[in-house]
Amino acid sequence: MAAPTAPLLEVANVSKYFGGVIALKDISMTVHAGEVMCLLGDNGAGKSTLIKIFSGVHPPSEGRFLVEGREVRFASPRDALAAGIATVYQDLAMIPLMSISRNFFLGNEPTTGVGPLRRFDHRRADRVTRDELAKMGIRVRDTDQAVGTLSGGERQSVAIARAVHFGAKVLILDEPTAALGVKEAGVVLRYIAQARARGLGVVFITHNVHHAYPIGDRFTLLNRGRSYGTFAKTDVSREEVVAMMAGGEELEELGHELEEFARSDRVAGGAMAETGRELAAEARAIGASASEPR
Ligand SMILES: Nc1ncnc2c1ncn2[C@@H]1O[C@H](COP(=O)(O)OP(=O)(O)O)[C@@H](O)[C@H]1O
Ligand SMILES: [Mg+2]
Repeated sequence: MAAPTAPLLEVANVSKYFGGVIALKDISMTVHAGEVMCLLGDNGAGKSTLIKIFSGVHPPSEGRFLVEGREVRFASPRDALAAGIATVYQDLAMIPLMSISRNFFLGNEPTTGVGPLRRFDHRRADRVTRDELAKMGIRVRDTDQAVGTLSGGERQSVAIARAVHFGAKVLILDEPTAALGVKEAGVVLRYIAQARARGLGVVFITHNVHHAYPIGDRFTLLNRGRSYGTFAKTDVSREEVVAMMAGGEELEELGHELEEFARSDRVAGGAMAETGRELAAEARAIGASASEPR
């Protein structure tokens, strides 16, 4: 029996290998109802791989994955969706030439009539789409409008409203603001806040701290497949998150470079290797210092 307080999602000591590539190593994190959990990290950090485990695309190679306190093993994205986990990918699964309401109901078409007379129920689709968008504070001129005529931010918003309407408990957004301008990113962030207000657990992936910090309740930092830890906003300032992302990464990089130099230059090698090791250790300490087990 799951405890009533069980997180919506939980991974415990999860690793994922693609042949020899370690995409994720020993990751533990939780997502609760009514919170925005931000997954931060540079390109190649493992963010997409982690959410693909959540959304049933990949099974973990190691570790446990629990949904509302019960261990699960999804065979496909369909299983994740059935468990209330909706994922909005950056390249949205929408058809640009089809209308907003058609896209809203893609794969869940309401029909009218019976037998050979069954057809797409336009009127109902238009009404529901309009109502659901309005609930999220999204106003469209005409739900018959082709999705391709919407801006990137509006399209993300329609995808979010659709996930909420079809009963998602967890909404996963992979870099929804990456391709957007400042104003449009702000619009998408507002819909994320609305999804949270409606009790969903949101996993928000970004490499932009300035998008993550205002909206996030907790932050998990990934770096080359490993976690620097999870931090509550109440415990960490924006500057500290920036420092962990940028500073940690750069110091570590610099440390590796110096160690590399040292290997190729035996004369100056001793001192440089020492500096390299110190910098690498400092980078690790930045990750460890603010980290707390959860
Ligand atoms: N299907 C795959 N096959 C092999 N390697 C993969 C696959 N998916 C991801 N990777 C590797 O795993 C690492 C993490 O990738 P990814 O999760 O996409 O990072 P992020 O989303 O943080 O940029 C990268 O080194 C990437 O090349
Ligand atoms: Mg990615």
